[in-house]
Amino acid sequence: MAKKKLMIHDFFQMKREGKKVTWVTSYDFPTAQFAEAAGLDMILVGDSLGMCVYGYPGTVPVTMDQCVLHCDAVRRGAPNTFVIGDMPFLSYQVSDEKAVENAGRFLKEANVDAIKLEGGTRVAGRIRAIVDAGILVVGHIGLTPQSSGVLGGHKAQGRTADAAKLVVEDALAVQNAGAQMILVEAVPPEVTRYIHQVLTIPVLSIGAGPHCDGQLLIVSDLIGQFQAFTPKFVKKYCNVAEVVTKALSEYCKEVREGSFPGEEHCYRMIEGEEKKFMELMKRK
Ligand code: KIV
Repeated sequence: MAKKKLMIHDFFQMKREGKKVTWVTSYDFPTAQFAEAAGLDMILVGDSLGMCVYGYPGTVPVTMDQCVLHCDAVRRGAPNTFVIGDMPFLSYQVSDEKAVENAGRFLKEANVDAIKLEGGTRVAGRIRAIVDAGILVVGHIGLTPQSSGVLGGHKAQGRTADAAKLVVEDALAVQNAGAQMILVEAVPPEVTRYIHQVLTIPVLSIGAGPHCDGQLLIVSDLIGQFQAFTPKFVKKYCNVAEVVTKALSEYCKEVREGSFPGEEHCYRMIEGEEKKFMELMKRK
């Protein structure tokens, strides 16, 4: 039986019932299939694809076309999962018009369920404009990787009382602008707990502790595929890099020593045809 696709009202219901939302990133068709088969509630096609798929040093170079293309592949792999497209750097910062047009592309070209964008108070107007166009918005506050330069690097946010107050103000601004969910990244659990107490929309965490409505991890971290670095908040549930590298080196070894391909990997000629074939060749 096909999995029941959850919609935004289901996430509000889960919040009321204290059921945790499970969320992971995905960038391609097979991983999206795995996520749907595993029963994940939501998938984020994050602009982290810049690092996890394209090998860029950060998310800044990622384009709208790349994001939409990957969303389209993920949608096909996970037709019954709530999919969120991530707005890349400069796709929403320039103007309300550009933000609405780009947010709309995710829906029109990749059939996603919602979009996510980074920032609190400073992007509240953009969130409002996109919501007014009839598009579901997920906010993203705390550590916002697209502006990591301004934040002084990929650092936890809200660790002092003053800094925590700013994170809470961002959370309220995002909710007041009409966002239907919010992601809090790399913030102390005490601060997330407060945000969870004061907000009415579902509050999700990536590296922001357990006191909220659900968790997100980057799939490439979770399965041990991304090699460059591992943030403190990541738990690796398997080590795909190790498994795949081992498989590839065994393949190399077997090709070099001639033990691959074996008989079982060959298409044999139909019985009697080899003899006829050799005779045919002799006549030439
Ligand atoms: O792009 C992404 O995967 C994200 C997460 C870091 C939250 O935005």
